Amino acid sequence: MIIAIDGPSGAGKSTVAKAVAKKLDFDCLDTGAMYRAVAWMAQHRGVELDDAAGLEDIARNCPISFGRDGGAQTVAIDGVDVTSDIRTATIDRAVSPVSACPAVRVALVDQQRRIGRAGNYVVEGRDIGTVVFPDAEVKVFLTASPEERAHRRVRQNVDRGVGSIDYETVLADIIRRDDIDSNRAASPLKPAADAVHMDSTGTYIEDVIDQICALARQKGAQG
Ligand code: DC
Repeated sequence: MIIAIDGPSGAGKSTVAKAVAKKLDFDCLDTGAMYRAVAWMAQHRGVELDDAAGLEDIARNCPISFGRDGGAQTVAIDGVDVTSDIRTATIDRAVSPVSACPAVRVALVDQQRRIGRAGNYVVEGRDIGTVVFPDAEVKVFLTASPEERAHRRVRQNVDRGVGSIDYETVLADIIRRDDIDSNRAASPLKPAADAVHMDSTGTYIEDVIDQICALARQKGAQG
């Protein structure tokens, strides 16, 4: 079974995806981490962000793998652990042009389908219910106001010790990224016609988690 969770950054997708996966005993696939890993490798190799052929080469030929370190998921590209290096402000900025590159998307979507259909997965991203798994059993489009998302991102950056902790800077960055992600030609961020809309602004995140688990159980998920 696939539970697709799409929505803008900071809406709470990762928190919700992890909690739902834990409750239902599913695995989690964070597709944003895959675009981030390609952006990291581009910077590492000095590939320009407008070099579509160079980016495609990375997405096709540098395998991305997920692992575990205790309870936390780790991400590696071409054998290099990039779990924390893909969460910096530099990668935040580099990843939008990388994810707007159609050839990168084709290569990563192939990998995502292969991983996801091998088991029961909660898959989070932007185009999961529309492009990657249009036949997902459960589709959720999770949003929150830009202001709420900026507050959450600042708290997260403080906790992690990486990224900007200036609210206005973070808010401007979120609005800029929403604009790029929603208006790009290749798989723009938009809800699937059959997605259930949920808004986490001012809502207990546990309520969102419970609602998604209930939808999954209606479709036969155990747990
Ligand atoms: O969810 P995130 O912030 O880690 O995503 C990083 C970037 O990748 C963001 O700019 C949106 C993009 N992305 C995408 O285009 N498609 C996905 N399925 C997941 C992420």
